[in-house]
Amino acid sequence: MQNLSIKAALLSLLAITSTLSPHAPLKVAILASGSGSNAEAIWRYFEQPEHKGIIEPAVLICNRKSAKVFERAQRHGVPAVWLPAKVFRSMTSEQKEARRKEYAQEMIATLKEHGVTPDNGLVCGAGFMVIIHADFLDHFHNRVISIHPTLLPSFAGDTGIDDAWKYGVTVSGPTVHIVDEGMDTGPIIAQNPFIKQPNDTREIFEQKTHQAEWQLYPWVIEHIALGHMHVVDKSDEGGPARCVVMPEMPPAIQA
Ligand code: GRF
Repeated sequence: MQNLSIKAALLSLLAITSTLSPHAPLKVAILASGSGSNAEAIWRYFEQPEHKGIIEPAVLICNRKSAKVFERAQRHGVPAVWLPAKVFRSMTSEQKEARRKEYAQEMIATLKEHGVTPDNGLVCGAGFMVIIHADFLDHFHNRVISIHPTLLPSFAGDTGIDDAWKYGVTVSGPTVHIVDEGMDTGPIIAQNPFIKQPNDTREIFEQKTHQAEWQLYPWVIEHIALGHMHVVDKSDEGGPARCVVMPEMPPAIQA
């Protein structure tokens, strides 16, 4: 009898502790410039009861005032900041460099105001059409990630979906990677491939790409929030010097 009540007490204690996350929620900032479907997929995912409390959607930074992502942020109650980049084609390269450096400091300050620091936060690019200065990447070392719609290193650049389609690939899918100074060149965190069926139209191909993105990005962020991502040096095995190790494969691959 006494054993039973001890067991019951232990079970209820377990029930309470299992609802408490062992980690403080990761403060997630989103950088976006356009529609914001990835941003919304992330906010929506972490609103679900089974994922709630794992991250805190701390802030959206967007450089375009009229971007649709602002409406989405408002719908999800996420603080949003318009931060115009003000880098113009007419500038000299020195002026562009100086402005990008300044913008990096503006972003760091904005993130700090919203409680996002390199110790507690993660910065997630999702269609952010601004070149990020190295000062920002150094400050948030290994804490700035981004999503690209193709299987990198194939079809890097702004027109990835179109390039992959025109090339005639039969497998495609998004990549989430750590941002470095190059164009879509940072260490790969995870990829989510899908098959392009023979009858898939261009529209279906794009739809499959976005669905794979919306599935992949929250999954990656959740693993990072739970402390599952490690960046290790695999160069002595002939691998990359900055290699991301994740504990499992993304959902679509497991299925
Ligand atoms: C996505 O396809 C992403 O891979 C790329 O930009 C697009 C952003 O779309 N970097 P959205 O604004 O999230 O809808």
